[in-house]
Amino acid sequence: MTNPLHNKHIISIADLSRDELELIVATAKQLKQQPRPDLLTNKVVASCFFEASTRTRLSFETAVQRLGGTVIGFDSGGNTSLAQKGETLADSVKVISSYTDAFFMRHPKEGAARLASEFSSVPVINGGDGANQHPTQTLLDLFSIYETQGTLEGLNVAFVGDLKYGRTVHSLAQALSLFGCKFYFVSPAALAMPDYLCEELNQAGVNFEVVDDLEAVIPKLDVLYMTRVQKERFDPTEYQHMKANYILTARMLSNAKDNLKVLHPLPRVDEITTDVDATPHAYYFEQAENGVYARQALLALVLSEEFA
Ligand code: CP
Repeated sequence: MTNPLHNKHIISIADLSRDELELIVATAKQLKQQPRPDLLTNKVVASCFFEASTRTRLSFETAVQRLGGTVIGFDSGGNTSLAQKGETLADSVKVISSYTDAFFMRHPKEGAARLASEFSSVPVINGGDGANQHPTQTLLDLFSIYETQGTLEGLNVAFVGDLKYGRTVHSLAQALSLFGCKFYFVSPAALAMPDYLCEELNQAGVNFEVVDDLEAVIPKLDVLYMTRVQKERFDPTEYQHMKANYILTARMLSNAKDNLKVLHPLPRVDEITTDVDATPHAYYFEQAENGVYARQALLALVLSEEFA
């Protein structure tokens, strides 16, 4: 049986249907339970990070290698020979994609992955483009939610922190909007969810509330998705003013439902105190590990026609 993701570019979570998201989550579960070390034999995948990364790059490269494939690429935060020599992204992509079977990239500019997909001869997977989208983070978030809640359907989910620049919350809200979830948006006013996304959610009939008091909303929640203020997108004075508006402590979780899981795309700065780590609600380190399985699932489906 062919699968609908074979040879597909993965640029925005909005490009994926509910069925495709469920297929990726089911495949991640399967690969976590039953490793497939030969699935990408003879496949070469480019890992091109024009912006810094730890989790996305390393879990992606681990995913390729554990499936039997080979990784080439760079992680120089834009200080590549390509950038130094003034080569355009389009030319870089044309060349690198001619060496590989898939092209995984992160770039500081919104729209860079979409642009790359127009010049690539192989599928492009977006590992984060500016403040826009981070679809593979959303896949591991969905897998972690499914793993801990047993469903993606009808959950109460709070998004907390930098909802303006946090690309992970943009992608996750779009994905969970397909599953009848209720959203609570908790952020300083200057870091609110962008209007275009709220409009999109409204048009999709999604039930969401903007709330100020994080503690008051915690007892209602199944998932509490914390994020850091995106320091790299502010000047230093502005950042000092914005950071640490919402800090989650273990005490604030005393009235949480048993099934509540706290997720965070990481890195954490100071928005979750370390005493939360010892509570049964903390799931962010398992979530980071799930990045390997979710990215394995995506690679398997994009690169292997018969895999489904
Ligand atoms: N969650 C995430 O994208 O982390 P990195 O920036 O380390 O890849």
